[in-house]
Amino acid sequence: MKKKVLAALLSVAMVATLLAGCGSKSEEPAAAPAPAEEEAEAPAEPAESEEETPADAPAASGDLADKKVGVCIYQFSDNFMTLFRTELENYLISLGFAKENISIQDGQNDQATQTNQIDNFITDEVDVLIINPVNSSSAETITDKVVAAGIPLVYINREPDESEQKRWEENNWDVTYVGCDARQSGTFQGELIADLGLENVDKNGNGKIDYIMIQGDPENVDAQYRTEFSVKALQDAGLEVNELFNQVGNWQQAEAQTLVANALGQFGTDVEVVFCNNDAMALGALQAINEKERKVGEDIFLVGVDALSEALENVLNGTMTGTVFNDHFSQSHNAADAAVNYLNGTGNDHKISCDYVKVTKDNAQEVLDMVK
Ligand code: BGC
Repeated sequence: MKKKVLAALLSVAMVATLLAGCGSKSEEPAAAPAPAEEEAEAPAEPAESEEETPADAPAASGDLADKKVGVCIYQFSDNFMTLFRTELENYLISLGFAKENISIQDGQNDQATQTNQIDNFITDEVDVLIINPVNSSSAETITDKVVAAGIPLVYINREPDESEQKRWEENNWDVTYVGCDARQSGTFQGELIADLGLENVDKNGNGKIDYIMIQGDPENVDAQYRTEFSVKALQDAGLEVNELFNQVGNWQQAEAQTLVANALGQFGTDVEVVFCNNDAMALGALQAINEKERKVGEDIFLVGVDALSEALENVLNGTMTGTVFNDHFSQSHNAADAAVNYLNGTGNDHKISCDYVKVTKDNAQEVLDMVK
């Protein structure tokens, strides 16, 4: 059921992506997986881009119960990564891994702590590693030690840069990155605002969209792309933009609340749009907006990314303009499937993509039913 809903949503997203002329052009999106508990007899299909991978590889694999999986998460307190890791663990178990053989470590947003955890996983001779790096700039060092230990590696959520990915390809290493193209999420955010029409957003009547931008931690390239492409989508729609304020909220609700309160204090009713690189920060922004007695949908507009339940409820109530579903089901399932493909010897492409879904009041309930 959920699978069908997501597949329908994704096809809408794909059309939107094609129209917008961006997104992962070279790769078909993965078939939309359902949450793991509904998935036991029907594992997700791996991304179609994995040409050499039979669609039923995970189900066909033999002795997964004996395989040790090491998972490193950059920070457990991150809302989105909590959804991701919970789904990842459930899905790994549904594929046949034993719960006691899946170890998930909290990097506490500290690369030294995470590096230590990786060293311990290598000493423990885990069979495969799934890593959400604290610093994506540390990927080269991480890759080198993991490859030297002969352990296949699946990066998630924080995309290593192009030169690093090139090394995997050139050396034919068992290393891949699983994630969505953050440019698409930024574009969708911009479109959510552009679709409202200048006449409805331009409250101060200066003919421009006056916005503030609250960015995530730059260690995730998602922050940079969402910032750039949300504004680009407005410009591509023929709108003039005026950036009033642009600061880093580190993906955190409380930090964003403080920043937005400052921006609203400084620029008052000139602030027409609040772009947040994720929903946690949009929730913080909403607190600041409420404190200033501004009204989303009336005198200010607010968008985030992720489709956290609380954000979806706000979209339904009209207290957020919209969000973008960051599909943690597809990402976690594709990461687990990629791990299995390495264990089976079938291998993977060096990059496995998925699609975001634009969320407005019209489809927020369907997405909420799926993520809840
Ligand atoms: C999510 C954020 C999250 C970040 C962690 C992003 O893709 O949208 O909510 O904090 O990943 O790296």
